[in-house]
Amino acid sequence: MKSNIALIGFMGAGKSATGRALARKTGKTLAEVDALIEAKAGKTIKQIFAEEGEVAFREYEIAVIKELGSQKNLVIACGGGVVLNKINIDRLKQESVVIWLTASTEAILERLKTSGDSRPLMPAKNQENEVQSLLLFRQPFYERAADLQVDTSGLSIEQVVEKILKKLANYAD
Ligand code: S3P
Repeated sequence: MKSNIALIGFMGAGKSATGRALARKTGKTLAEVDALIEAKAGKTIKQIFAEEGEVAFREYEIAVIKELGSQKNLVIACGGGVVLNKINIDRLKQESVVIWLTASTEAILERLKTSGDSRPLMPAKNQENEVQSLLLFRQPFYERAADLQVDTSGLSIEQVVEKILKKLANYAD
């Protein structure tokens, strides 16, 4: 039986907020991949992208997922692009049930409005068509990685957590 729960999904899908609430509810330890990358690099995600570029960021991401791969009893809140490298998925799946949080484009745009410019890959003005095309490009990556999918549109964090727990109870890994 896998003891970790990994949350994947697009920026603004609610991975971090859901991860915090899910960890609290289950008693598991929260591991936030972006925060661990920032600690490893000694700078913010924004600075890593600006000073070292996306490829270097993806290398930090791979290193953090590798470290988490062998740990147990975690809720892992992944960054939106973790799924882009298959090695991350393979390592996550060893000990995690992978849950894909989805939301409508409108909900994502709404949630991202409040995030300022901390997300280097977010189109500058959160333009709907750019978000839409990035979502379309990412779709097959999330699909391939996910064991379970949970639509979060219109739900509170608590409702999302309940939905996840219900799905997990019916999921034999
Ligand atoms: C990224 C998502 C971000 C962060 C980085 C890259 C992506 O995390 O890892 O800016 O490629 O989708 P969130 O999904 O938590 O915003």
